[in-house]
Amino acid sequence: MSTLSIINQKGGVAKTTTAINVAHVWAKLGKRVLLVDLDPQASATKSIFGDQEFEHTSYDLVLNKVPAKNAIQKSEDFGFDVVPGDILLSGVDIQLSAQFGREKFLKKALGTVKSKYDDIVIDCSPTLGLLTVNALMASKDILIPICPEYFSLKGIELILGTLKNIKTGLGHTIGVKGIVITRYRNRKVIKSVIDEVEERYGLKVFKDFIPDNIVVEEAHHNHLPVSRYAPRSKAAKSYESLAKELNT
Ligand SMILES: Nc1ncnc2c1ncn2[C@@H]1O[C@H](COP(=O)(O)OP(=O)(O)OP(=O)(O)O)[C@@H](O)[C@H]1O
Ligand SMILES: [Mg+2]
Repeated sequence: MSTLSIINQKGGVAKTTTAINVAHVWAKLGKRVLLVDLDPQASATKSIFGDQEFEHTSYDLVLNKVPAKNAIQKSEDFGFDVVPGDILLSGVDIQLSAQFGREKFLKKALGTVKSKYDDIVIDCSPTLGLLTVNALMASKDILIPICPEYFSLKGIELILGTLKNIKTGLGHTIGVKGIVITRYRNRKVIKSVIDEVEERYGLKVFKDFIPDNIVVEEAHHNHLPVSRYAPRSKAAKSYESLAKELNT
């Protein structure tokens, strides 16, 4: 079993889109996948289930209120299980601030269900606060989506700095699977981004860029993965090859 967090403190770079579409392709390949929505905006949950409300969510897991199995929902359309997100997650940093071991509550909760899955994918919120630290402590690796138009080296440095702090402060080493270029429109912008990332940090940039395409937005509104909503689109094909490459 392996756990992958999709992180970037920059908002709107397609973390959620990447999390649910990679998880879907893995499920299609026959893997047993759990997606954890760890964002107070609950975008992944809304994309998958629409306006459904859930009694238990990832908030209960982070606060260790209920066993993880009680918060798991099945999605037939996506083919994987989901721990829904919750607006209450926005108060977690304060609620956990005085608790011993607060960085490992999610890891502890997921420990009780991990044997049921081949992969757990965590969709993080656009912050590097305690919630994301909980995701990182539960993860073996991270994947960083980057939108070339808003790219900043400082952003990458912040993420790498957080991984370093977790290693020195909490003794947990996290691998960086690489960077996925999302929502791209302009090849010239991409080339300069790739060169900078590879040269400065030696990070892998996946060769499957995800193009900016309206079908991605439409797939969210139709509560379907891109490869079911628009199977022949370039976006669907790119997510399929990215998921396969991540798998190897
Ligand atoms: N390849 C794409 N083509 C077109 N639109 C896209 C693409 N990828 C994502 N989007 C759209 O961009 C918006 C942001 O995407 P998404 O919610 O996945 O980003 P995020 O990084 O998870 O955002 P947040 O930081 O708020 O959690 C959404 O409206 C989504 O539909
Ligand atoms: Mg998101």
